[in-house]
Amino acid sequence: MPKDFDSMEDSNRSSNPSIHDLSAPARRMVLRGSLGATLGGLLGPLAGCAGGAPSAGATAAPPLLGFKSVPASREDAVSVPEGYTAQTLLPWGEPVGIAGQMPAFRADASNSGAEQEAQMGMHHDGLHYFPLDGSQRGLLVMNHEYVDYGLLFSDGVKGWDVDKVRKAQAAHGVSVSEIELRQGQWHPVRPSRHARRITAATPMVVQGPAAGHALMKTAADPAGRRVLGTLNNCASGITPWGTYLTGEENWANYFALSQAPDAHQARWGLKKGAGARWHDHDERFDATRHPNEPNRFGWIVEIDPFDPESVPVKRSAMGRAAHEGATVALTRDQRAVVYSGEDARFEYLYKFVSRDAVKPGGAKANATLLDHGTLYVARFDADGRGRWLPLVQGQGPLTAANGFADQGEVVIKTRQASDLLGATKMDRPEWVALDQRSGEVYCSLTNNRDRGGEGFPAPDAANPRANNTMGHVIRWREDGDFDAASFTWQHFVLAGDPANERPDARGAVKGDAFACPDGLWVDARGLLWIGTDMSPTQMHRGDALRLGNNALLAADPRSGEVRRFLTGPVGCELTGGTATPDGRTMFVNIQHPGETPGEISDPANPTRFSSWPGGGTRPRSATVAIRRRDGGIVGT
Ligand code: FEO
Ligand code: CA
Ligand code: CA
Ligand code: CA
Repeated sequence: MPKDFDSMEDSNRSSNPSIHDLSAPARRMVLRGSLGATLGGLLGPLAGCAGGAPSAGATAAPPLLGFKSVPASREDAVSVPEGYTAQTLLPWGEPVGIAGQMPAFRADASNSGAEQEAQMGMHHDGLHYFPLDGSQRGLLVMNHEYVDYGLLFSDGVKGWDVDKVRKAQAAHGVSVSEIELRQGQWHPVRPSRHARRITAATPMVVQGPAAGHALMKTAADPAGRRVLGTLNNCASGITPWGTYLTGEENWANYFALSQAPDAHQARWGLKKGAGARWHDHDERFDATRHPNEPNRFGWIVEIDPFDPESVPVKRSAMGRAAHEGATVALTRDQRAVVYSGEDARFEYLYKFVSRDAVKPGGAKANATLLDHGTLYVARFDADGRGRWLPLVQGQGPLTAANGFADQGEVVIKTRQASDLLGATKMDRPEWVALDQRSGEVYCSLTNNRDRGGEGFPAPDAANPRANNTMGHVIRWREDGDFDAASFTWQHFVLAGDPANERPDARGAVKGDAFACPDGLWVDARGLLWIGTDMSPTQMHRGDALRLGNNALLAADPRSGEVRRFLTGPVGCELTGGTATPDGRTMFVNIQHPGETPGEISDPANPTRFSSWPGGGTRPRSATVAIRRRDGGIVGT
């Protein structure tokens, strides 16, 4: 069993960096060159309120958890604690605010593909608030992970045509919206010169070792350096130089294949007969005709939200995966360390360490920082220790003889390389969150019903439960700085329902029970926020019926106490998570309200499970802005 956390803390506390340890020039760079508050969630504007024990002479920090928890709920509504308000904004289909292109949302889903290109995408996921004017006005940048065709189209998937494909692609991707706070309410600024939609058809470039690789070349892009679009953007991250990172997660599902997959395609989840019908009208999604097109997805994409003309960059040095997201830490000497989980059963957890230090001067000065460095995959050992295994061509088994001719091939075939290295097969690693000051890093392992099943890997130390329907959160601390080759880990919490009939699904939650942790972030005070994603199938089956709808909870990293902060409408998951620099507004995303246990919603009865947020004929993903009525800091 892993060591208990106290001993980890004792042995490692002083060796990890904090904002206070940064050199004065570095601190100035962080606070000015990278727009300061873009690091809101990373370094924290509320320095001095860190989650660790107070240093000698400092006054004791107030308790991290200061709100009264809300009860579990099955209402089709958002509930927040006493003294808080929750305001809905930027639902799917609202105009994003591009000048001259502000088509109104049509509640019958009859907006065209061209209109959707100027509207908020569907299924809001990771998000971040980038200040333009402190905590009063900023850019809300968010992912639109996937779509429900039963809600997106008036007639669902009854026939496809070219405009349906265009609309579906336009409802994916990323949006940049300008918002401002007036009299305690957030309002979209429309039009805004920053407003932007990035979709599954937006031109972007590839950089790093896969750029120009033979496996990246297609008929439409013989140079293998320009890709159209980003897909299934799940969790998000930010960089110290003020850019947004987005992970391409379940992209394999978009590709059609008319024959049995080869070994590479099979390892990445391509299946004969699968895929949306996009390839009927956008041929590049036919993987039989264009076998390299899938290699151009599965990357972490970097976007400069402050420059609407900027071209998004697929950063191949960080490896190809079903990337959930990308979470950045800084080493003491200012190199960037990017953690990323791969949300798939028995897949891996990655870390990338940049070769160079972050430079002052924002996005332009750091335009190639994430192109050079070392990618690692995690191995969790049974003694509570762990190793970061380098994914470097020529090292260990990663040789040409084993199918890795160059580093480009290693990053395109990250899964195969990780298999050879003996990395730990995890229970669906979702978000990674970290506290730059305490050095604690967390990953949500949302669930894995196949663990221990026939023909599947058995439970292991890090993934200890067979038929893991409830999920867990793992926590580690690097040996020294964030670039370390080894770490010490423990389970932060095994999630579960204390009333579950299966003893191993009861978990060990101190406080309010929950299941299937997914969204995860550490706020400026050091509180760990957890968004849950129990599937509708699971909830309808009754496994976690008593836990109510998906919820947002907060956990005290010191005591492990968990409190339910927000309950979402029926069928949604709670995701995203960001705050204004003053900590007085928190934004979270309500994704897929009304999601059905089946494939897609019934277009003839779209409100069968939910009509949140109301006012229309169908449920719509949206952002919720949460504030305290007295204007205090959220969570206190
Ligand atoms: Fe897109 Fe892993 O949730
Ligand atoms: Ca997720
Ligand atoms: Ca989900
Ligand atoms: Ca999930």
